[in-house]
Amino acid sequence: MQIHLFQDKQALDIAVAQEFVRLLQQHPHCILGLATGGTPVGMYARLSAACGRGDISFAQCQTFNLDEYVGLSRTHPASYYQYMSQNLFSKVDLPLSQCHLPDGQALDSIRECQAYEQSIAHAGGIDLQLLGLGHNGHIGFNEPGTPIDSLTHVVQLSPTTRYANARFFKNAADVPTQAITMGIRSILNAKRIICMVSGADKAEIVRRVLRGTITPDVPATLLRNHPKAALFIDRQAASLL
Ligand code: GLP
Repeated sequence: MQIHLFQDKQALDIAVAQEFVRLLQQHPHCILGLATGGTPVGMYARLSAACGRGDISFAQCQTFNLDEYVGLSRTHPASYYQYMSQNLFSKVDLPLSQCHLPDGQALDSIRECQAYEQSIAHAGGIDLQLLGLGHNGHIGFNEPGTPIDSLTHVVQLSPTTRYANARFFKNAADVPTQAITMGIRSILNAKRIICMVSGADKAEIVRRVLRGTITPDVPATLLRNHPKAALFIDRQAASLL
């Protein structure tokens, strides 16, 4: 796995945004895999600004998000749909019909997972997948132990993941217990992957991801088997390497 190291979070945001800018300029019809969480917020701001300046257009691309909470409506303030809407979709020229997230309110969630997987395949697969990194090594919402061949599926969120995401909810108890997430295989199917990591609190898991055994027990280690996966990190996240 390639490692790109940056002085600080700002430099990291600029570099990751630049990768998306380059792809959109060269391949306006590209398929983007997007992530939520605190890490990519600044990067999305830069992409929105680039679009505002006319450097890039999202008009012809399609986006697929990694995951969504089960039970939250698209209008719920902590839903990933709202996150994407606020951080990117409402700020760029991307038609909403070309933005895809799993439907957390689908009556038949198993069917929703299959349909989501099919729509990614139908679009031609993901050209560039953005990932964040959970403190336990999760990618998307693939918790430790998720099988390597997993496709989009419903997951039971671990207590640590619910705790880490509680800051986005009014009460910690409001964090849903389940989510729909692309599986490990769905992620590894992407032609290119950028995993973006920032901050000292991620230093220990970054060390395990890069130096530890490749195992489903630390899902992000599986990225090391992908020919075009790169870790973009700031100095703080790299401090234990
Ligand atoms: C959530 C998301 C992940 C994200 C992770 C890290 O669990 N489902 O996709 O990578 O949080 O979030 P943060 O960037 O806030 O540390």
